[in-house]
Formats: sequence, C-alpha cells, structure tokens
Amino acid sequence: MILPIVGYGNPILKKKAGEIDSTYPGLQEFIDNMWETMYNASGVGLAAPQVGKSIRLFIIDASPFEDEEEELKDFKKVFINPEILEESGEEWIFNEGCLSFPDLREDVLRKPKIKIRYEDENFETHEEEYEGIAARIIQHEYDHVEGVVLVDRISPLKRRLIRKKLQGIIKGNVNPAYKMKFAERK
Ligand code: NI
Repeated sequence: MILPIVGYGNPILKKKAGEIDSTYPGLQEFIDNMWETMYNASGVGLAAPQVGKSIRLFIIDASPFEDEEEELKDFKKVFINPEILEESGEEWIFNEGCLSFPDLREDVLRKPKIKIRYEDENFETHEEEYEGIAARIIQHEYDHVEGVVLVDRISPLKRRLIRKKLQGIIKGNVNPAYKMKFAERK
C-alpha cells in the first residue's frame, strides 16, 4: 500500500523518533509499504517519520547511483534503531533532495565516512562503515529519525532565499508525482 508522504512543516518531522523492538505491531507490513511508497516516489531513501510514524526506522535503495559508484548496485537495506557512532573525514558537498520537500534540492556539507550500528528486519545487530554516496544517504535518513530535516542543514541565508518555496510546501502549493500530506492543507 502506498502511504502519503508527510511534507515539511508537519511537526512529526521535527521530533526525535523512538526505538522499537520485534514486538512492534505490523512491522513487516509497514516495511513493505515503505518500499512501495519509496519506489512509487522514485526515492533512494525513506524514513518512518516521513510516513507518519515516529519510530527509528529507515530504508535505503541506492542502486540508482550505481553509475557513480559501482558497489551501490545492490545496496538495499532496512535500518532499525540506528546509531551513527562516528563521522570522519573532510566535509564534502552533495546536492541532496528529500521526498518531504518536493522540487527542492540543496547543497549540503557532511563528512564522508561513517560508522553505524543498527538492527536489521530480524533485529540482528550490525556495525558497519560506509563512505561516499552510501554514507550520504544514510546520514540524510538518519537525520529524519533524529528530527532533523534538509533545510536544517543549510545556512540561514539560503533558508531565507527559499522561504517562499518552503511556505509553498507547508501549504501544499506543489504538485509532486506522488501522494503527500501537507501541514496546512486539509
Ligand atoms: Ni529526506
């Protein structure tokens, strides 16, 4: 089932999400719905708060970036209760988009390497290191479960420059090719 994606301005996007365990009701069905929702919107990542659930879960399929980094061909994962343990290296710019911000792309600075601990769908714990685009997508989705969104990562000046655009997203004056729920449109 395709779920509506919550737009910028909805308070759930600013809330730190809570951990879950294997007793979380309907988890597998929810994850299946998230995949369907993400692919329908042509996204490479989707976090649970973006579909209205404040839980520490996100999914990533980085395969559209396979031309840039060959190892991303099969990069498809579910991250539950993630914790970024370490970020390192010299910050680099990447032009990020977000399904909660239709028609917006912004250059964001982040460190290139991360170490992350998370649980998979079977609640087995993994500790892994990533770099480049994989790390970048994880950092973006991780922000969502921490209550941080794309525009929190840009300068106040840039934010002011796109203020009208952001107001448009809050009010639902945008036309994404996927189903959304806007903060101020009933
Ligand atoms: Ni996003």
